[in-house]
Amino acid sequence: MQSSVWRAAGLAAAILLMADCSQHVASPARAVPRDAATSANVDAFVATHLVLDLTADFDAKTLSGTAELLFNRRDPKATEVVLDTRDLLIRQVETATREGPWTRSTHRLDLATPAFGSALRITMPSGADRVRIAYSSSPAAKGLQWLTPAQTAGKKQPFLFSQAQAINARSFIPLQDMPGVRVTYEATIRTPAELVAVMAAERTAGEAGTGLFHFSMPQPIPSYLIAIAIGDLRFKAMSERTGVWAEPALLDAAAREFEDTETMMRTAEALYGPYRWGRYDLLVLPPSFPFGGMENPRVTFATPTVIAGDKSLVALVAHELAHSWSGNLATNATWSDFWLNEGFTTYLERRIVEATYGKGVAEMHGVIGLRDLAQSRRDLTVARDRTLQPDLAGRDPDEAYSTVPYEQGALFLSFLEAKFGRGAFDQFLRRWFDEHAFQPVTTAEFLEALRTQLMAANPTAVRDDEIQEWLQSETVPAFAVLPMSDALVKVEQARDLWLAGGTIDALAKTASAWSTQEWMHFVDALPRQMEIGRLRALDRRFSLTDSQNAEIAHVWFRLAIANRYTAAYPAMERYMIRIGRRKLIVPLYRDLSATSDGMALATRIYAKARDGYHPLAQGAVDVILKPKNS
Ligand code: BES
Ligand code: ZN
Repeated sequence: MQSSVWRAAGLAAAILLMADCSQHVASPARAVPRDAATSANVDAFVATHLVLDLTADFDAKTLSGTAELLFNRRDPKATEVVLDTRDLLIRQVETATREGPWTRSTHRLDLATPAFGSALRITMPSGADRVRIAYSSSPAAKGLQWLTPAQTAGKKQPFLFSQAQAINARSFIPLQDMPGVRVTYEATIRTPAELVAVMAAERTAGEAGTGLFHFSMPQPIPSYLIAIAIGDLRFKAMSERTGVWAEPALLDAAAREFEDTETMMRTAEALYGPYRWGRYDLLVLPPSFPFGGMENPRVTFATPTVIAGDKSLVALVAHELAHSWSGNLATNATWSDFWLNEGFTTYLERRIVEATYGKGVAEMHGVIGLRDLAQSRRDLTVARDRTLQPDLAGRDPDEAYSTVPYEQGALFLSFLEAKFGRGAFDQFLRRWFDEHAFQPVTTAEFLEALRTQLMAANPTAVRDDEIQEWLQSETVPAFAVLPMSDALVKVEQARDLWLAGGTIDALAKTASAWSTQEWMHFVDALPRQMEIGRLRALDRRFSLTDSQNAEIAHVWFRLAIANRYTAAYPAMERYMIRIGRRKLIVPLYRDLSATSDGMALATRIYAKARDGYHPLAQGAVDVILKPKNS
């Protein structure tokens, strides 16, 4: 008894030493939460460390080399370890004991399923706790996009980037692809000499021109946070610990746009505790990046469409930065707990925006988020996906992706803030991140913390049935504390005046000081059936069709489609070919597909655009445009 306690303590100490960082504490004895999207047999083996040695071949569009996994063996009798893979070519598998030599082993790939790929079953000799797999990714890997030079800003060099969340790491690394398992890692990356590799890790060696880079990730992370980008990338510092990576043509504009990052970090640290990842950089991707941003640790990946020139879209930085606490430290245990990542982060994002740009700006974001939530719920076909607890059995979590976990989650936390008071709630959140740093978290654990910490001290503030309604309701509860924005109310008044016959000059006078969010709200709140002459007048005066702000252009194109304002279509087509960010293009395809001539146009545009899209964007648009009944 006593000796096993000592052994456990020794193991914990060894893990701390190995990771060379006293900030995080791994608890190897804890049962790993099961996720519906993995085949991994975590009762028998739990990965703790990963060693990659990969070569990027831009002609073959493959990453190939070896992945070595070190396991904590939980079942001494287990004879097989099961990993997640998707479309990987497995060349050879070896196993070893902790210090022993590598020996060839046998393996078997299960039949692939569209949702999860194929389980890789590796025979493990007695005592073995390491595997080394020689493999290549497929050119069609779901988690990678291989770009031609034409798809980049510089037009001269190709580009590669990964997007592992939710379950796409398995398409470029065989591993236990689930958020409840965390690994530290090291990587050797070999690239064409003219390119630079960046990983969501610390670069420990390698310089531009050498084609050889080494990385190390000392903090344990879930597989969905493994990330790599390779291209003609340069770095520019913004502060001691923040900077941007981008193609040369975008570098200065990006550094200017994101210059408030250090200020945001200090705000976040004051509220939620120390930033535990060392550096915080941003990497600007080509416009086909299917998301706005991805919170890869130490280096957020971001769409270039947020570089508006006026910092008006940098709430995205606040959001991805906030994930350094909600998500990257305290990680959703399963993809059904996704709201613990995104709802918390959306709430934190607004707090950072409020501290950096003022309450009025944060309120506008809240109101716009609430509208997005309603719209997003209407678009969902599976009822449970409209709640904070979707049923993901048998499904790729990406299928259930929507604004619901973001905005319903953030509203839930805002409700708690209002009921318990900001001071108490801030303290509660800070403790949550401290106590769950580098750990998986479940909704049940959140409710338990809520009960024992906030509700115990203030038993009448909220009721159990209210909490349950937040989690289970397909709508915003009637007792929610809704965001309100005076600025956006004024926008609605200006809209009403203009629609009631006001002149465009009068509107222009009011609108001259509008921010991006006010413009977005104005356009979004215009009727879906308007006189074409009025749309044309707006367009002439404010050049909306040619807006260089990707968010304003997006709401304008949706209005144009609803009103069949075809003068906007050529610009919309260029936009849909250039940009691959799902949130900006998928609604346009969906709106177009509602009518038969719209469907024909969407199909024509997609024929030109599809090759340039990321596999995840292709998947989303394919579903919309596939002929019905087939
Ligand atoms: N982690 C998400 C992106 C994500 C979620 C990728 C699920 C794959 C699966 C990221 O933090 C995010 O939410 N990005 C948003 C931007 C944000 C400002 C709301 C996006 O990409 O639109
Ligand atoms: Zn997020």
